[in-house]
Amino acid sequence: MFAQVNGLRMFVEDRSASDFETILFIHGFPFDHSMWRHQLFLLGAEFRCIAPDLRGHGGTLDLGEPRQAGQVTIDLLAEDLIALLDDLQPRQEKITVCGLSMGGYIAFALWCKIPARIGRLILADTKATPDTPEVKARRQAQAEKVKQDGPKAISEGMLDSLLTPENRNGVIGMEVRRMIESTPAHGIVNTLHALANRPDSTDTLATIAVPALVIVGEQDKLTPLEDAQYMHERLRHKAPLAVIPNAGHISPLENPDAFNRAVLEFLKS
Ligand code: MLT
Repeated sequence: MFAQVNGLRMFVEDRSASDFETILFIHGFPFDHSMWRHQLFLLGAEFRCIAPDLRGHGGTLDLGEPRQAGQVTIDLLAEDLIALLDDLQPRQEKITVCGLSMGGYIAFALWCKIPARIGRLILADTKATPDTPEVKARRQAQAEKVKQDGPKAISEGMLDSLLTPENRNGVIGMEVRRMIESTPAHGIVNTLHALANRPDSTDTLATIAVPALVIVGEQDKLTPLEDAQYMHERLRHKAPLAVIPNAGHISPLENPDAFNRAVLEFLKS
C-alpha cells in the first residue's frame, strides 16, 4: 500500500492485525522493504510488521522536496518515518524499531526524536560511529559513477562487500542485485550524501533507556563484529550480542533462521 507522508507517496508493507504489537523494520542502503521478507513472513504471525521503502528507494520513487543533494539527511529519513507512524497509528504507545545498517543510523535518529514511542531497539549490521574521510571519498566516487552510468555501475562492487562469497554467487546475490539496480539513481546519489554526513551516534548509545539487541553477520565486512561490540559495550539494557553464522552484511536475508531466532528470543524475553 501507499501512504502520503511528509510530501511523499511512500510504499509500505503493513502486515497483520493492527492490535498486534508493532515492529517497524527499516531497510539498509540501497535496498527496499523486501530485504525483510523472511521476517515479515514469520514474525507477521504474531506482530504487526511495518516495512516501508525509504525516500528514493524501492516503490517510494520520488524524493519529495527537498530534492537537492545535501538536503536529504538521516534526520529527514527519520522524520518521514515519524509521519508514517502518525499515519498508521500503532495501537500501542511504544513500538519495536529494527534497523539494518542505514536503518540503524535512522533508528538512532528516531531514538533522539521520539524516545517515548520506542519500547525496544534492534540494531542489525550497523555502527554508531560516523564515516572516515576515506569512506566519504569512496561515497563521492560512487555518486559520480551512478550519476554517469546508473546503479549498475556500482552493483558488482557492492555485492562483493555485502554478502558472503557463497551468498553472493547464489539466489541471494541475484535478489540483492535486483534491489540495488532498481533503486533510482537520484535516490542513490542523495542517500550517499546523507550517509556521508550522518552524525556520530556514539553518545546516543548510553542514552538508550530501553532493551536493545545488537545483531551482526559473522562475515560482515562493512560493519564488522568490532563495530557491533563497540555498540554493545555502551548500551545500558542489552540482550546478549547475536552473531549470525554464514552471513555477511545482510544477515536477515542471508541467514533468516538464525536472525529470526535471535529476534524472537529478544522479543519474548
Ligand atoms: C547499508 O547497508 O545501509 C550501508 O552499508 C550503510 C553504509 O554504507 O554506511
